[in-house]
This record gives sequence, C-alpha cells and structure tokens, in this order.
Amino acid sequence: MPFPLSFADDAAPSHPLHLVCPETLPDWVGGPGGEWAGWLAATGFKAGLGELCLLPAKDGVAGAIVGLGTIQARARMRFGVAKSFSTLPAGTWHLEGAPSETDAKEAALAWLLASYSFDRYRPNKAKSDQPRLKLPDGVESETLLAMAEGEFLTRDLINTPASDMGPQELQEAFFALAGRFGATASAIVGDDLLAQNFPMIHAVGRASNRAPRLLELRWGSEGPLLTLVGKGVCFDTGGLDIKPASGMLEMKKDMGGAATVMGLALMIMRLGLPLRLRVLVPAVENSISGSAMRPRDILTSRKGLTVEVNNTDAEGRLVLADALAYACEEEGATIISMATLTGAARVAVGPDLAPFFADDPSLAAAIEAGAIAGFDPVWRLPFWDPYEAMIEPGIADLDNAPSGGFAGTITAALFLRRFVNTPRYAHFDIYGHVPSAAPARPKGAGGQGARALLYALPDLLGL
Ligand code: BES
Ligand code: ZN
Ligand code: ZN
Repeated sequence: MPFPLSFADDAAPSHPLHLVCPETLPDWVGGPGGEWAGWLAATGFKAGLGELCLLPAKDGVAGAIVGLGTIQARARMRFGVAKSFSTLPAGTWHLEGAPSETDAKEAALAWLLASYSFDRYRPNKAKSDQPRLKLPDGVESETLLAMAEGEFLTRDLINTPASDMGPQELQEAFFALAGRFGATASAIVGDDLLAQNFPMIHAVGRASNRAPRLLELRWGSEGPLLTLVGKGVCFDTGGLDIKPASGMLEMKKDMGGAATVMGLALMIMRLGLPLRLRVLVPAVENSISGSAMRPRDILTSRKGLTVEVNNTDAEGRLVLADALAYACEEEGATIISMATLTGAARVAVGPDLAPFFADDPSLAAAIEAGAIAGFDPVWRLPFWDPYEAMIEPGIADLDNAPSGGFAGTITAALFLRRFVNTPRYAHFDIYGHVPSAAPARPKGAGGQGARALLYALPDLLGL
C-alpha cells in the first residue's frame, strides 16, 4: 500500500486536471480551453468517461483534460474517471470543473483507491514516481482517507495467501489494528475452551493444525453499541465435502468478511466516531484430516440449537452462528455480519453488488442511502420467512445445507438469523473479489459494504 496515503500539499505548484462532459466540451473548447481547440480536435478527444488528453505547453505539460462521459456512461461504470489516472505523468494535479461536489468527491476517492497495489511478494518491484492529487474544494479529506485506508487493509488481508494468513496471522493483524487505536483485543483459543464455549467454531476449525479461535475487539466507552461479526475462514477447502479445484482456487478470500469488518473498524476508529465498537471474528481454516467434522454429524451450537451438517462446505454459517449468539448475549447492540457466505449470492447479483438482509426497514433504508453516498453498491434481499422450512432437517433443529439448492443466499441468511435475538441486525453476503480489473478496483481483493455502512452509521445509530 502506498505510504503516505494522502493528498498533495495545498501549496504545491500543480497542473490542472479539467473534468469535462461531452455536453460541456464545446463550451470548454470555446472558452477557457480555446488554446487547445485544434489539438483536441486533431486528437479526436470526445470527453468519453475516463478519456485523457494531455494539454501541451511550449516547455512541457500545461495540464490535462479528462472526460466524464455521459450520465448513462457514468451509471454503467463506477469510478470511471479513474481510468485516466494511471496514464497521467508524475507531478501534482488539481481538479477543475467538476460538475458537482459529488463528482469531485467520487474522483478524489477514486484517485485514492486506484493508488493501491499489492507488493508484499515483490518488494523490489521498481516503483515509478506516482502523480499526486490535491484535495478538491468542498471535499472533506478525513473521511476519504479513512475509507481508503480501511479498504487497503481489507485488500491486503484478502490478497495475502493462506500460507501467510492463517488464523494466527489474522489474529496478529487484528491485534495490531486494536493496538493502533488503543482498543482492547482478545482471542479465545484452545481445544477445550473452544469446544465447550464455541462448539461450532471448534468443529469447523479443529481439522487444521492451525488452531481455530474467536477474536474479539472493543473500542470506545460511550455511545450506541455496534457489533461487527466477520467470517474469518482463512482457507476453505470445503472440508470432507471437498471443493473441486476450480471452486477452491479463490478460497484464500474466505476471510473476506473478517477483512471487511476490520477495514470498517479502522474507518470508525480513525475517524473517532462517537460509538462503542465490538468486533468478533471466528478465525478458522476449513481443512481436512481425521478429526474433521463429517457430513451428517450433529453439532450443538453455543445457543443450544442443534445443527445437522449436511455439507461440510457450508462452514461459514456454523462459525458465524456461534459468534452471533455470543454477540447477542450483550443487550442493545446493532449487529452487522459480513461473510463470503454463498456461491448463490454471486449467481444472484454478480461480483459488484453486495446483497444484504435486514428486517428493520429503517435500517435497510439507511444502508441503501449509505451505499449511494459511499459509491459502494448494495442490494437488499429478503429474510423470506416462508423458506424457513427449508433449513429444518427433521432430525435436528437446523440444516446447514438444505437440499434442492433454491435461494441459497436467503437460506444461509435465515440460518444466521436463528442465532440473533434482535431486529437491529443486517447481514451482508459479499464476494470480496474483483475478477477483472475495473477503475479504482484492481483485480484481486475488494472490499464491499464497508463504505455504505460507514455512511449509514449516523442514521443507523442516531449519532
Ligand atoms: N466460502 C464458500 C462460499 C463462496 C464460494 C463464496 C465462492 C464466494 C465464492 C462457502 O463456504 C460455501 O462453500 N458455501 C456453499 C454452501 C452450500 C454447500 C450449501 C456454496 O455456496 O456452495
Ligand atoms: Zn465452504
Ligand atoms: Zn466458506
């Protein structure tokens, strides 16, 4: 991750980066940009989204013009303006002509998010001088910087392969995050302790020689209580119901929920929001050995509900269920879970959109509004009561993998809801992965939902 993650000093000399839409291009060329009218015509500049044209001066570069595209083009590509940033020459730049403060904010956030690269395994990779951006007028920098740093933490954690990001290493990252902000952190680890208190976390993680554990962080002493729960499956082989190679390939990202709640926690703590934060991460590896849980085993959860394991690959809901039950033992919390929980969520909405579930309409509305403010799209799906019967196997209270496979993301969400005792609950079934590079979202790890939640918090918690 680039360091420092910051905007350029306001006093630094800088080149203008003119933002222009196709509709306003003629005005610009006929007015302030008259000097380059011939140049822009000759180069065929049309102000398409992310299209860049350097503006020459006698002795170098006078500035650059970047197209914002039509409204339709912008609707089809989030952060599209960032396409141009990677080809800008080094130096300091400032935005000019953003049609609104929202456009300026999107461009500034896109700039920060586009500057990410994951270089842990090639530290000697030559880094060329990066261009820098000044903070645009009317845009508040602290929130943007906190959001970018949180997202970078999420991406770093997910991108790190499972060989270097097991439950122990995830714990180290978790403790480091707590330490930086003076939060308290603890880990519940050890076969006996876990088997007695968090039996489903233990059952999922016990086959690995990298010990399962439950991580907990607390920060802040006043204000409403927000409890974040993130799925921390450091690698998901599927267990005895082993995944095929193609399905296992990306499973280092199965701690994406943990990484995302840790990124959100960073944002909250860095901004010093007036709330009490609790973060719970069941950190396990869903592995295979003689001690692995078996299909049709019946587990007794922390809450006392029994669960028939009809597929060892539906492990995320097991570890989350015990963590959610624990979260609910403390009264008054607003609870959010985030997890790379089901392949069905991806079939339903694809990789860019984070489906979420919430019974409380005001909570859902706050998250939807936050998604717009944070350029972080989400889509509400229902906790559909009529499907409750699908998660009841007959021989235990619950089935972790209903046969039939209908509405897999909904039945997984309904399963989690059985362990929650408050309507102030939202669950996100995220993907945590960008399958092909998009503006400001390089291929690889990608957070989802954290910025939407950050912007939702004032409404959600009455801050
Ligand atoms: N970690 C996976 C879900 C997943 C797969 C997320 C691919 C993102 C991309 C989860 O543990 C899993 O394997 N779920 C199963 C559940 C099924 C067996 C009921 C799934 O979705 O296939
Ligand atoms: Zn699985
Ligand atoms: Zn999983």
